[in-house]
Amino acid sequence: MSLLADEPRPRRFFIETWGCQMNELDSQRLSGQLMQLGILPTRQVAEADLILLNSCSIREKAEQKVYSRLGKYRLLKPQKPNLLIGLCGCVAQQEGEKALHRVKDLNFVLGTGRVGELREVVARSLTGERVLATGFPMERPFEIDTIVRDGSHKGMVTIIEGCDKRCTFCVVPSTRGPERSRPLAEVRNEIHHLLEYGFNEIELLGQTVNHWREPGGTADFADLLNAVAAIPGLRRLRFVTSYPRDFTHRMVEAIGRHSNICPYLHLPVQSGSDSILKKMGRGYSRQEYLELVRGLRQARPGIAITSDFIVGFPTESEGEFEETLSLIEEVQFSGVFAFRYSPRPGTSAPRIGPPVPEPVGSERLRRLLDLQDEVQIRLNGALVGTRQEVIVTGWGKRPGSFTSRTLCHRIAHFDSEDSRGVALGSLQTVEITRSLPHSLMAQLALLSRDSGATMPA
Ligand code: SAH
Ligand code: F3S
Repeated sequence: MSLLADEPRPRRFFIETWGCQMNELDSQRLSGQLMQLGILPTRQVAEADLILLNSCSIREKAEQKVYSRLGKYRLLKPQKPNLLIGLCGCVAQQEGEKALHRVKDLNFVLGTGRVGELREVVARSLTGERVLATGFPMERPFEIDTIVRDGSHKGMVTIIEGCDKRCTFCVVPSTRGPERSRPLAEVRNEIHHLLEYGFNEIELLGQTVNHWREPGGTADFADLLNAVAAIPGLRRLRFVTSYPRDFTHRMVEAIGRHSNICPYLHLPVQSGSDSILKKMGRGYSRQEYLELVRGLRQARPGIAITSDFIVGFPTESEGEFEETLSLIEEVQFSGVFAFRYSPRPGTSAPRIGPPVPEPVGSERLRRLLDLQDEVQIRLNGALVGTRQEVIVTGWGKRPGSFTSRTLCHRIAHFDSEDSRGVALGSLQTVEITRSLPHSLMAQLALLSRDSGATMPA
């Protein structure tokens, strides 16, 4: 769809992205559509005549943060009367019309199920219409050719959208809509396209990525892993986020069988207490989770497991929290994300019982993170002196320094004397020289001239 010829055309766009990988990928899709219209990106918000806020609503104060940010952006309008401002992402889906009422200068609201419609929405906004595009239509355009992947070291591929689980604390089912798997043929096609583009690493995305099912068919995530891992040229395959209850033996086996599946798994457990897990509606017990971890480690020795935790869930007692600490001791996660529980709109957890007072919740979070730091100091320390294959994720602060990720997804900062040959997205061999709780320091050991993700000639 073309913009109207007699309207002042936006020339530059600025996107601010919050949240998870799904939002990152959505921003790549939004950018691609704008570039197709001849609107180019800028890193300076003051230069932009189109501003998009791709928002996240997973934790508290998300809405206030969105409104305060939009408030700042609208201050640019008096100098730039043609400036368009759009709210996208999960808060857009959640707030919908309310956002248009509250922010008078907001031009459009584009929900997570409507990302593929940005061009039309911009064209309508340019005529002066204030556009509300939310909800989850059956037909949703998803053009893989207009995704802007530049500057990214990995190719992200959505295999399943939305979520049908009902974890009592979680807003995602309402902000990302019902679960929907993409056909394997489409997924394969997109991966081929990304490998041609030069990506060494492919990351499959979904809120419950291992709940993927062939639409109208019988294939499950184990079949998908087997099919995708066999694609020639795929060096590193990862996927997020796995749901513990949806893991099957065949999936564990597939992780053991394919050496190009990274020995790394993000497996959110949320709590180590059975009674809290039950109140969260997670559908597995501590014991079942531990058995799954054991099975994964047997199938793939050395696999790094990371997790998410919520502390201070309503009614959580000191004893229940200590069960979380003991789970952390027992599993030895290579990394965790831990959050204080926050009530989210439309979720049932706030009705479960009294909230844990703020100082108690914060103190529990501190204790959890301190314990996890001890675990990471031990695990990372054991890597000093080893060689690791890393993927280059960016440039460091000093010339000749780089950031990267090991196969187990640990952050490694490394230096190279011959920095010219080190490309973003290339695979390099480094030697670990020092360890910190949250990262590794390294030196380039073998330079690979691999050019990483590049545009095909
Ligand atoms: N699909 C993923 C989680 C998506 S949300 C899963 O299966 O677990 C990412 C993380 O945010 C969650 O794992 C949880 O730890 C955290 N989170 C979600 N809702 C939250 C809330 N209301 N308060 C605090 N943390 C929350
Ligand atoms: Fe949220 Fe649970 Fe789905 S954490 S994304 S409702 S699996």
